[in-house]
Amino acid sequence: MISPMATLWQDLPRPIFTLAPMEDVTDTVFRRLVRSWAHRWGARGPSVLFTEFTRIDSAIRSTPEKPDGRLRSSPEEDPLVVQIWGTNPAEFEEGAAAIEALGFAGIDINMGCPAWKVRKSGACSALIGTPPLAAELIAACRRGSSLPISVKTRTGITFPETDRWCRFLLDQGIDALILHGRVADEMYQGWADWREIRRAVEIRDALGSQAAVIGNGDVCSLDHALRLTEQTGVDGVMIGRGIFFDPLLFARDSPTPPPPWEALSLEERSGYLVEHIRAYHREWQEKRSFEVLKKFFRNYFLPHSAREQALLRQLYTLGSPQAAAAFLEESCQAAPRGQWGHHEAVHP
Ligand SMILES: Cc1cc2nc3c(=O)[nH]c(=O)nc-3n(C[C@H](O)[C@H](O)[C@H](O)COP(=O)(O)O)c2cc1C
Repeated sequence: MISPMATLWQDLPRPIFTLAPMEDVTDTVFRRLVRSWAHRWGARGPSVLFTEFTRIDSAIRSTPEKPDGRLRSSPEEDPLVVQIWGTNPAEFEEGAAAIEALGFAGIDINMGCPAWKVRKSGACSALIGTPPLAAELIAACRRGSSLPISVKTRTGITFPETDRWCRFLLDQGIDALILHGRVADEMYQGWADWREIRRAVEIRDALGSQAAVIGNGDVCSLDHALRLTEQTGVDGVMIGRGIFFDPLLFARDSPTPPPPWEALSLEERSGYLVEHIRAYHREWQEKRSFEVLKKFFRNYFLPHSAREQALLRQLYTLGSPQAAAAFLEESCQAAPRGQWGHHEAVHP
């Protein structure tokens, strides 16, 4: 019998819009905030979420009482897919069972990260060059759990090999293929090639596979995501760095969307940052460094405003979340009026 969980990718309404896994960015706190900000403005929000990439041995050691930090989550993030990486099929089998026991909605295998530190171990994008091992890892997840399995990958290592590689992955019976339209050696240079993503859809259709194809790379808004869905036939789009330029990106398909990010007042934008800082502190206390969050402060300020950049420089000098939140409340009058600031009045 097919587990009801296994239909996750088929059941999600089209187009599927999702937030990309990003190490040190999309922790449980940010995932929750991105979705709740979208809901607050009356938008659907990302329909499925992904954890940051997690070493398979950390997944094995996780328990409900003591999950690995990357596997910390809350019910508001459902359905939440765990992204794993590694090279050992036995560990993948055990890890998949552990992830299912922890109650997650799916398993995504990272076959795309181009960083040398992981590639040199044969993991992530290096697997594009070792298909038999890639197949073993997928099969091991299947043996270990009945959860849907997706693979997030790139179009090749040095040059696009979309035909060979995507056909191979789809032949393994995966439930979803998430394709970043760059080769690994490009890292983040140039532009993602959406023709390769369209090619992956054609291959899926020619094979008669039921797998969902999700496109990824350089999408900066939901309008852009929609256009690319129409042009390529993908089932959905995964958006990563776009959220840095517009933290309310997923709120924009609402009948009453927020004003453009740069049209919001400093008070409003810093209100969102205060909310982020406070939620981060509540969740992590000392368990995740405040410095990790600091790297993303600049997303909340306008790059061309001298006043805001000066505030940002002062903010960087502060050593604790409490000090940063208090500074913002004082300097930008960011203290929310009511729990959600004045947006509460707009969307009760
Ligand atoms: C800071 C950062 C961290 C990332 N961490 C991960 C990760 O943990 N797992 C993963 O599959 N991809 C990771 N990526 C890649 C993104 O998921 C995405 O594939 C890539 O940024 C391209 O999409 P975009 O152009 O929408 O950003 C990361 C990207 C960035 C910028």
